[in-house]
Amino acid sequence: MPITPQELIANLGDLPPLPQVATQLLRLTADPDASAEDLRRVISTDQALTGQILKIANSAMFGMVREVTTLTQAIMTLGFSTIKSVVIASSAKNLYHRGTVGLQERLIWEHALVAAIASRAFAKTLRFPRVEEAFIGGLLHDIGKSVMGVKFPERYSALLRTVYNERGDGLALELDTFGFDHAMVGEALVQKWNLAPSLQQAARWHHDPIHAQEDHLPLAAIVALANRLALEQKAGIGDPIHLESASLQAMDILHLGPEALESHQEAVRAAIEQDKTMIAEF
Ligand SMILES: [Fe+2]
Ligand SMILES: [Fe+2]
Repeated sequence: MPITPQELIANLGDLPPLPQVATQLLRLTADPDASAEDLRRVISTDQALTGQILKIANSAMFGMVREVTTLTQAIMTLGFSTIKSVVIASSAKNLYHRGTVGLQERLIWEHALVAAIASRAFAKTLRFPRVEEAFIGGLLHDIGKSVMGVKFPERYSALLRTVYNERGDGLALELDTFGFDHAMVGEALVQKWNLAPSLQQAARWHHDPIHAQEDHLPLAAIVALANRLALEQKAGIGDPIHLESASLQAMDILHLGPEALESHQEAVRAAIEQDKTMIAEF
């Protein structure tokens, strides 16, 4: 019997909140009347975030010729929608890095970033219009793992060790051990953070995209493909062999044959290579 969402919440207790600066910024980026100055004012209250945004604006990814030194310049350069991704990325990073930053946390974070970049690249090459949403979907797909790591430090870390050493199926092992898995926990968190339903669905169904609600099938499929590609590129903990069925479902949803998939994957691998600096900067 799968656990109900109510039981899940009862098991997990309070979920970590989205930091206030992120909440304010999300509200602003959704407001058509918001100005760059409004954004600057909110971001500048957070030193670490300011530094991160400046670094990203200066990273090779945006091919800037002139150095970006002020927040206002950075906002103009990156645009609202990329700023939104950076802010969510920074909030997610804090969660991925809660407590001790051991090898496991580092690998989970690196996997999230590579999956985010891969999702965005898949979105571009597949002509999915909302590329920043794809980036965030990739970034947050495994956020449930961080929540489980925070809530059950010993048990979850032991589980990850088993997955790592025995190349086991993490999702199945989570279900056996806890009665729920990181996809369910991720959905609960993304819901609590009030992010778009498409992002909730991508977190929930990245291992089984075919079950996503109809409107959200393409995003769930893109994130599923990005997830597997990230593991194939050795970013993260887990064996891509366990993502075979997720990947077949995604190909079905996106009407891709093996050859078409391979040619899109070529483009995505190149994008990951190009964005390596951003991965290192975060
Ligand atoms: Fe996952
Ligand atoms: Fe993943």
